[in-house]
Amino acid sequence: MSASLILNDPTLLQTNAFIDGVFTAAPNGKTFAVRNPANGEIIAEVADCGADDIARAIDAADTARHSWAATTAKERSAILRKWNDLCLENIDDLAAILTAEMGKPLAEAKGEILYGTSFIDWFAEEARRVTGDVLESPFPDKKFIVLKQPIGVFGAITPWNFPNAMITRKVSPGIAAGCTCVLKPAEQTPLSALALAELARRAGFPKGVINIVTGMDAPAMGETLCADERVRKITFTGSTEVGRILMRQSADTIKKISLELGGNAPLIVFDDADLTEAVEGAIASKYRNAGQTCVCANRMFVQSGIHDKFVAALAEKVAEMKVGDGFEEGVVQGPIIDQQGFDKIERHIADATAKGGVVVTGGKPHEKGGTFYQPTVLTGATRDMQLFSEETFGPVAALFKFDKEEDAIAAANDTIFGLAAYFFTKDVSRIFRVSEALEYGMVVSNTGAYSSEVGPFGGVKASGLGREGSKYGIDEFMEIKLMVIGGV
Ligand code: SIN
Repeated sequence: MSASLILNDPTLLQTNAFIDGVFTAAPNGKTFAVRNPANGEIIAEVADCGADDIARAIDAADTARHSWAATTAKERSAILRKWNDLCLENIDDLAAILTAEMGKPLAEAKGEILYGTSFIDWFAEEARRVTGDVLESPFPDKKFIVLKQPIGVFGAITPWNFPNAMITRKVSPGIAAGCTCVLKPAEQTPLSALALAELARRAGFPKGVINIVTGMDAPAMGETLCADERVRKITFTGSTEVGRILMRQSADTIKKISLELGGNAPLIVFDDADLTEAVEGAIASKYRNAGQTCVCANRMFVQSGIHDKFVAALAEKVAEMKVGDGFEEGVVQGPIIDQQGFDKIERHIADATAKGGVVVTGGKPHEKGGTFYQPTVLTGATRDMQLFSEETFGPVAALFKFDKEEDAIAAANDTIFGLAAYFFTKDVSRIFRVSEALEYGMVVSNTGAYSSEVGPFGGVKASGLGREGSKYGIDEFMEIKLMVIGGV
């Protein structure tokens, strides 16, 4: 264990894959290093499993699925609740592991653990609210009944930007529905996943119900999950590019699919917005997780009447943001996850400034070095810039000026993506009009923070399929069966 990662319970730092209820090393003993993005230090060496280990995990999940599906919803709910309680009891350690491997500030990491447990808690309740239907029969001598049944084994592939919450958001509804799972966490952040596995083991999930397989060869591991007939569903959060591959690979076995993919969120500030609310909302949306969320505002459209005031107020606050190691007191922005992410930010800034964009604050690598980047505000953004059509995934607020409402809506919708959109106005009729006109799965007005277990999370167009969390989330893991009884 890294010297700087001190845990109350060091046994939460598991480094082997969790297959069939047992933590197991990769068969050939191979490992890969998990590094702290704040300082490059190795935190742990983790089992570097591959496609064969995924296949073993699928065997385990398939063996467990009948007995797990046969448990009562009340039994599943009780184990989920135990898991939830254990996560809350160990929140400090889970947050420390998360900050060490991902870089987000400790307070934000604790917020993520609470967000993560909210899904376990929610689906522990939803498990008991799955109801079928008795239909009005079209025949006098036949009964029509609808059953909802667990889909079976599901494969989950989760990202590094929310190493805890994206796991619980996928696993909890599936397990609550009576399915079993094989999960492949991002190679940058396997330790949060394995800590959750250890707590699931302590909560008493039977062996094979939750399997977590770590490894660097994501393409082969994903392909094995998609190709296996016994895996009936794939749920993935990550890039649109990888989502397309998984969808193609799942075609032969006709799997049910949920994809939470890239975004290119617009944030529109109308002249009649409350300036303070708009600035706070823009910061909450843009700089959360150093801009590394799929729902971070990527393009800010600001109406000409409020533009200059908004720029000044936003830049003042952004310039005060403390950047540094997530364990340091008062830090609100950690490092960028890796060099590739950092390079993309640099590319977007270089492209934007070459095309007339003006950096008001930030715009450079941070003096701390490594992958730290200055929180940035850039004005004069235009539609020919890369940051108009690509998600920057970094702490860069790009501001576009507009005059008319219809122009802002047209520009906001001019993207292949459709995950989250934000706008600020005090005009109630505009709230309805703009909410309906924006082609996004989640349209949010007068706030920049809305993620919770209650709202259905997901996108349209190239941002994905299906919804996570909420009362709709469990249906993604169930099949509807028609049962007809004749001669009655
Ligand atoms: C994501 O960026 O993928 C998830 C963000 C959220 O749940 O709010």
